[in-house]
Amino acid sequence: MTNRAHWSGRLAFVLAAAGSAVGLGNMWKFPYITGTNGGGAFVLIYLLCIAVVGIPIFIAELYIGQQGQKNAVEAFEVVHKNRTPWRGIGAVGILSAVLILSFYSVVGGWVLDFEFRSIIGEFMMESDDKIKATLGSLFENSHRQLFWHLIFMGLAVGVVIGGVKNGLERWNKILMPALITILVGLFFYSTSLDGFGRSMGFLFSFNWENLTAAGVLEAVGHAFFTLSLGMGAIITYGSYLQKRTELARTAMMVAFLDTAIALIAGAVIFSIVFTYGFEAGSGPSLMFETLPMLFVKLTGGFWVSIVFFLLVAVAALTSAVSLLEVIVAYWEEKHNMKRWKATLLWGLIIWAVGVLCVLSISGDSPGGIDFFGIFDMLTSQYFLPIGGLLISLFFGWVLGPRAVEHVVGKEAQWAAQGLLWTSRVLAPLAVAIAVGNKIINS
Ligand code: PHE
Repeated sequence: MTNRAHWSGRLAFVLAAAGSAVGLGNMWKFPYITGTNGGGAFVLIYLLCIAVVGIPIFIAELYIGQQGQKNAVEAFEVVHKNRTPWRGIGAVGILSAVLILSFYSVVGGWVLDFEFRSIIGEFMMESDDKIKATLGSLFENSHRQLFWHLIFMGLAVGVVIGGVKNGLERWNKILMPALITILVGLFFYSTSLDGFGRSMGFLFSFNWENLTAAGVLEAVGHAFFTLSLGMGAIITYGSYLQKRTELARTAMMVAFLDTAIALIAGAVIFSIVFTYGFEAGSGPSLMFETLPMLFVKLTGGFWVSIVFFLLVAVAALTSAVSLLEVIVAYWEEKHNMKRWKATLLWGLIIWAVGVLCVLSISGDSPGGIDFFGIFDMLTSQYFLPIGGLLISLFFGWVLGPRAVEHVVGKEAQWAAQGLLWTSRVLAPLAVAIAVGNKIINS
């Protein structure tokens, strides 16, 4: 066997995979795109996609990584054959990782900035209007954004240099449970707010008239984004598993955890929206406008805000680390470069691309191009879903029944057939319809 680093056990792996999946996608992106897409019907499509498309592809990626014991490109060659064209999925995945991390780290920087403001007690001293406008004023201040963006990238680089056991594992084990605890606490508090009932109605009543073709694709794309699918992160994390570790239940656990966290975050944020008269469709600033408002009204809110933004920062960091790991694992193995060198090299490149994203937020980007928005849209709505579609086809048709049997065992025939045909037909078809429908309708 190889002398590759491995996770110390199944729990460590579940937490690491959950660390990758749970991040800004859950706390920041899910609530805001649910808001801009009108709520319930969007949520339903998203939930269906997690179950029908997300879980099977999660299993497929884990399998490819675990059996390949290699990075997101070369794993395809091990499980199929040398120079297989399917390795192109991994190559596009690496490009996606670069693009996603470049805007993700900017939002990570906003979270750090809010953590700093919490620590110095800024929110406690401001009027409601001022609190609402905090992110807007940060948007205009490119230097301040650049500062926190640099810190965030530096932290991600630091963890990845530490490697699988010392870097990735150690943090996830402590911080994930802490995040869940505080989120559940906030949820119970939000049930006492006047807007809680409307929040539930907004999230869970199926108002189809609000849903557009673009909204459907956003929901499908978000299912990939939030589970870290379609670009090799789960292949890479799977490659640090021992070859015998069970996969199917692990995938379901991570998907369940990730979805639960997104829904709880959504419930809390929309309770604040409907209690204090915010705009549900206000876009990327939603989380940053609403939560500080809750914290200033809360007894002990000063402390809650410090802990909360710290944990969101950590959740973002563990996801950012998994993005960087995709690239570093590939570069390290392919070009025989030392881990620390590969990490610094790519950290620097992504930081530079991220600067373009910051400048496009502050309105100073070259040619006025919205790099932030373009990278986000391109990756979540096209690269990840199409990458996932291809992975699903690869798993179902090329690897086929043998791989499926490895995952579900010999006894469970119905589960095997279910997984086989979901990956062969159902999941690819669902993605193809969503992407095709959007293209036709735009
Ligand atoms: N899943 C992460 C989140 O929800 C983002 C991510 C996407 C991480 C793709 C890795 C790969 O925040």
